[in-house]
Amino acid sequence: MNMEKQITVTSPLLPSLEEFIPYLRDIWDRKWLTNNGHYHQLLEKALAEYLKVPYISLFTNGTLPLITALQALRITGEVITTPYSFVATTHSLWWNGIKPVFVDIDPETCNIDPEKIEAAITPKTTAIMPVHVYGKPCDMEKIQSIADKYGLKVIYDAAHAFGVEVNGKSVLEAGDMSTLSFHATKVYNTVEGGALICHDEQTKQRIDYLKNFGFAGETTVIAPGINGKMDEVRAAYGLLNLKQVDTAIEARRQVAAKYREELRDVPGIWVMEDMPGVRHNYSYFPIFVDAEQYGMTRDELYARMKERNVLGRRYFYPLISEFSTYRGLDSARPENLPVAHRIADSVICLPMYSGLETEELERILNLIRQ
Ligand SMILES: Cc1ncc(COP(=O)(O)O)c(C=O)c1O
Repeated sequence: MNMEKQITVTSPLLPSLEEFIPYLRDIWDRKWLTNNGHYHQLLEKALAEYLKVPYISLFTNGTLPLITALQALRITGEVITTPYSFVATTHSLWWNGIKPVFVDIDPETCNIDPEKIEAAITPKTTAIMPVHVYGKPCDMEKIQSIADKYGLKVIYDAAHAFGVEVNGKSVLEAGDMSTLSFHATKVYNTVEGGALICHDEQTKQRIDYLKNFGFAGETTVIAPGINGKMDEVRAAYGLLNLKQVDTAIEARRQVAAKYREELRDVPGIWVMEDMPGVRHNYSYFPIFVDAEQYGMTRDELYARMKERNVLGRRYFYPLISEFSTYRGLDSARPENLPVAHRIADSVICLPMYSGLETEELERILNLIRQ
């Protein structure tokens, strides 16, 4: 039996319990637990400022904003998206009765390949749903120019892209809407949570109605909405975590720099470099294994890490297009998605979190360099 301490792939950013308790006491005193309460309002305002986006609506997780964005924009028919993401991206389409159309990815960024989008457009296409995978920004200009040419909406799944900026501008400004996830495993978390970002007050109003069952007043329901509201306890927790997120991102940056420095020259291991002009959030550290050059397959390396109590994650494997719900779609055929398949078969995300210790980092590096 391996006695080495287990290193998990991630570890949540937790606020100080001492600081949290007075917030809880205040919530108990106020006796207002949800429905746009005091802490909800404070967090919405604080996040709008931090993320540099004035119109943000908080949600109870990162999946409901995707589902709600499609409702808010009345998207129907077919939506072009990527198979290289977490299943929630495509599930949000399915739950809205929309057919996902998968397009292959760019091997440099792992994001949807904009060069391949136009060929997938049909008369039924109404939108594009790209994902900023690992928080690496998509080619937003190119995607917007295609959307403008064909009159399509763009909804970014920015679940991984908290705080990511390009030349000082938030990626959340792109497209018609963007969504965030504040799940426990993310760079910034509210235990479970998420947000939907739009660009005008009227749209935010519509989103806020939709996430509260469609209520626009005591007795008025304007649409078949859903319950997506964030509660006071998580909003208060989120306020505290926001205070330490920059420190956490800086610690992650240092971990990423060390990984890259030590793994860049290992034959058969490919790492992603920083992109010029981008403020990254270092949400994940994926490596890509070339079995022939490395002398071991991705799955063999993954198993060896596991044996030694180092938990990586094959994120994203299998591709969404391989799950039974989607496998029958024309666009899910492997011949249509060769790059995504190659990447999904070679990726391992290494442990990445702000509290990763130097000795733990050395253990991981030694395992991969051996
Ligand atoms: C790309 C992507 N989209 C959507 C989601 C869904 O977010 P949540 O788990 O907060 O519902 C996730 C989260 O895991 C994700 O990684």
